[in-house]
Amino acid sequence: MPDNPFRRTKPEPVPPVAASAREKTLPLRINGKAFFHNGDPEMPLLWYLRDVLRLTGTKYGCGIGACGACTVLVDGKAEHACMLPVKSLAQREVTTIEGLAGKDALHPLQESWIAEDAIGCGYCQPGMIMAAAALLKRKPHPDDADIDALPNLCRCGTYPRVRAAIARAASAPVEGKK
Ligand code: FES
Ligand code: FES
Repeated sequence: MPDNPFRRTKPEPVPPVAASAREKTLPLRINGKAFFHNGDPEMPLLWYLRDVLRLTGTKYGCGIGACGACTVLVDGKAEHACMLPVKSLAQREVTTIEGLAGKDALHPLQESWIAEDAIGCGYCQPGMIMAAAALLKRKPHPDDADIDALPNLCRCGTYPRVRAAIARAASAPVEGKK
């Protein structure tokens, strides 16, 4: 049977890297796990996440740092994965939407997103949630102006519900927060 070029393939397991080869590779830490990249050090983190690790929760929107769809946390701060070459990430901790929840429970922002029905088509929402997570880290009780200052774009116009979801998460018990 001829190969179907549109067939979805399973994520390839990340091959183990021999200890001797690790010296030539770039050590990365993503969602609490160690990876070693031995490809192009200029590769944007967004491509590494989506195409190499198959962590497709982080979205491609504009590719120029303007929309926020690719927002991840780097050492707890919001960054645009489309603008970050992997070489800039050695010894830094990257968290994507896949790594935000705890082992046994969703992150309070994910809970509040559901409670407020904040999602439209959903495309921008992982980036919105990661930007909100960074906001709550630096300001646990943001006001409306802080929330409205988030630079993430949503073409479905979910801004009022996103604002309500962030405010709800900010008032959630502290022990549930990452
Ligand atoms: S895809 Fe990165 S900011 Fe738009
Ligand atoms: S929910 Fe559709 S782009 Fe934001």
